[in-house]
Amino acid sequence: MLVSRPRGTSDILPVEAARWRRVEARLHRLFLLFGFGEIRTPVFEHADLFERGVGEASDIVEKEMYVFPDRAGRRLTLRPEGTAPVVRAYLEGGLKTAPQPVKLYYVSTPMFRYSRPAAGRYRQFHQAGCEVIGAGGPLADAEAVALAHACVEAAVPGGAQVLLNSIGCPECRPSYREALRDHYRDRLAELCPDCRRRWERNPLRLLDCKDPGCRHLAAAAPVPLTHLCSACRAHFEAVRWFLEAAEVPYRIEQALVRGLDYYTRTVFELGHPRLGLQASLGGGGRYDGLVEELGGPRTPAAGFALGMERLLEAAAEEEGRGETREQEGDGSGLAAERGGGGGLPAWEEAPPLLFVAAAGGEGVRRECLALALAARRRGIPAEIDLLDRSLKAQLKHAARLGATTVLILGEEELARGSVLVRDMADGRQREVAREEALTAVAGRD
Ligand code: HAM
Repeated sequence: MLVSRPRGTSDILPVEAARWRRVEARLHRLFLLFGFGEIRTPVFEHADLFERGVGEASDIVEKEMYVFPDRAGRRLTLRPEGTAPVVRAYLEGGLKTAPQPVKLYYVSTPMFRYSRPAAGRYRQFHQAGCEVIGAGGPLADAEAVALAHACVEAAVPGGAQVLLNSIGCPECRPSYREALRDHYRDRLAELCPDCRRRWERNPLRLLDCKDPGCRHLAAAAPVPLTHLCSACRAHFEAVRWFLEAAEVPYRIEQALVRGLDYYTRTVFELGHPRLGLQASLGGGGRYDGLVEELGGPRTPAAGFALGMERLLEAAAEEEGRGETREQEGDGSGLAAERGGGGGLPAWEEAPPLLFVAAAGGEGVRRECLALALAARRRGIPAEIDLLDRSLKAQLKHAARLGATTVLILGEEELARGSVLVRDMADGRQREVAREEALTAVAGRD
């Protein structure tokens, strides 16, 4: 008798595997252009890592983890998501003493969740994602959203949708949670059994239940944005302001709360018109408490993950419609590799790193983000400062990262529409018009 594959898993046969490789190559290239280094963590971990990290009351931990004892009786689990393992590796691998923030990514990493298989939902699936550990400012959130958007555009050109929200911090969340409980208090009988439990243990999740009765109640429920403390509100406004400079289209989705418990402040999801917004292509956000929760020092962080199967399915739909266009220079994703997806980009082959340094306030930093994104679109790996460092400290950081050229933008240059180009080998600087800066950099040795 034939032994079939387990439910919710798939075989990727050669033709399909070639499509995967093409998308993977684009994603690797994008992450490298944004200054991320690749990380690979084990397929199984201690169950405790996710119970503490993702949260006891999350669906993943409550009902979707593959937990099993090994022969010595340790409680292990097949990895259901990538963020907690990356944070564990950051703490365990000594990365907390590396130059901060530490930017790590993964592509086509297998994940396992015991959920009911459905369209776009599998028990073994794959994610591409990244984590920026050690940066707490809104610029890091905006850069993560811009990268997630570019990743979707690189795989499925045209119309990636970003949904954005803020769910506050440990300061303002308790009062919001109480407001939510109050809203539901007299209507508990109308909730599904899952939501009755959520009301006790994890009220935020009441907002994204798919049950029609629960949805009806959720529609009138208070939303996190109206309960943010002033620091969270300012953070959210700044993320939006940076995203506008980055020309990343987004929509505020006030009921977006995400299914994992580690998020603080910014949360976002990626969708595509071909898939509808029910099946999100990816999601992420800020998680300022997770490093500490897993035994490290207090360290802010942010990241996202995309579902590879869903990306590939959306791309196939698009190909079926005959609308796929190659993306060279189209200003949305980044230039596709020539020759249909070619080899993976290696660090050694990547052009030298450009650092865009800010010598001024928020307006200058905003322009630096736009400049770095424009450089990456031209295939130049670029970094910006995510830690509000002084110019001197930024130049030191740029040197440590191996940048050969630094673009320096100050208030005066901002007003004049120019930028300084600094050659890191000899420290010489010259001023060029902003629109010529990247051509000047591209012409480097
Ligand atoms: P998540 O929203 O649980 O976030 O998963 C991210 C994406 O993985 C989803 O949007 C979806 O595309 C895909 N995905 C999730 N479950 C399945 C499934 N059963 N079958 C197929 N695809 C699925 C996380 O995992 C977070 N670790 C993301 C993150 C990284 N946040 C910060 N950093």
